Amino acid sequence: MKIWAHRGCSQRYPENTIMAFSKAMEIRGLTGIELDIQMTKDGEIVVIHDERVDRTTDGIGYVKDFTYAQIRELGIETGMDHKEKIPSINEVLDLMQEEWAAGLLLNIELKNSIVLYEGMEEKIYGLIAERNMQERIVYSSFYTFSLEKMRKLDTESSIGILDTRVSDCLYKKDGLSKINSAKIALHPFSKGMDLDKGRLHGQTVRAWFAGHLYPEESTGRKLDLNRLEEQGITDVFLNEPEVYLD
Ligand code: G3P
Ligand code: CA
Repeated sequence: MKIWAHRGCSQRYPENTIMAFSKAMEIRGLTGIELDIQMTKDGEIVVIHDERVDRTTDGIGYVKDFTYAQIRELGIETGMDHKEKIPSINEVLDLMQEEWAAGLLLNIELKNSIVLYEGMEEKIYGLIAERNMQERIVYSSFYTFSLEKMRKLDTESSIGILDTRVSDCLYKKDGLSKINSAKIALHPFSKGMDLDKGRLHGQTVRAWFAGHLYPEESTGRKLDLNRLEEQGITDVFLNEPEVYLD
């Protein structure tokens, strides 16, 4: 089973922050890091899960209504003597650049379906291509339109099709494959495994789990990865990958 850090090490550290990503990068054997992107009023790509800043920062309002300078004024509670900030994607790419050689992957989830961020796909593609990082990137989204755009823009990176049921991921894969069939993975909800393992033979199936856990302590619980593997799951996005790998 391949393990990904979902929003970084987001169980013990504030999700989608440099702190959570740095902790994830310390874990030996980690396959990759997952994060979410939104866009500011002045077109900066920032790393935050929600369309609004309310849940994770000390601010109120939509990401799209803040300039990048304004959003950087907001603090994210860490439970320690400093606050984190909402990172720009560039900051995360800078941080991870040195890890590329070690083979770490980055899953960038485009949160482009509730607020329609015009030009988000072209912008993220440009930033990745500038750094020549395509081979390390998996673009995912629940929004098929964004995935189609990414597939057309970037044929070297991988695509992750997000949906609740694995059967729906597979159905969408058919459509996307017509553009370019290389490197397309299924990203279903862990409880949406509605096909037999046999039907998933040869597929990369990366499962995600529910629950917004920030900021909480370690759960002390462990998932049964063997059982998940028996269902055809090849990778898992976990909030506490450190529990499984260190
Ligand atoms: O990539 C899987 C997972 O991140 C999708 O759900 O809400 O955590 O972005 P969410
Ligand atoms: Ca996500």
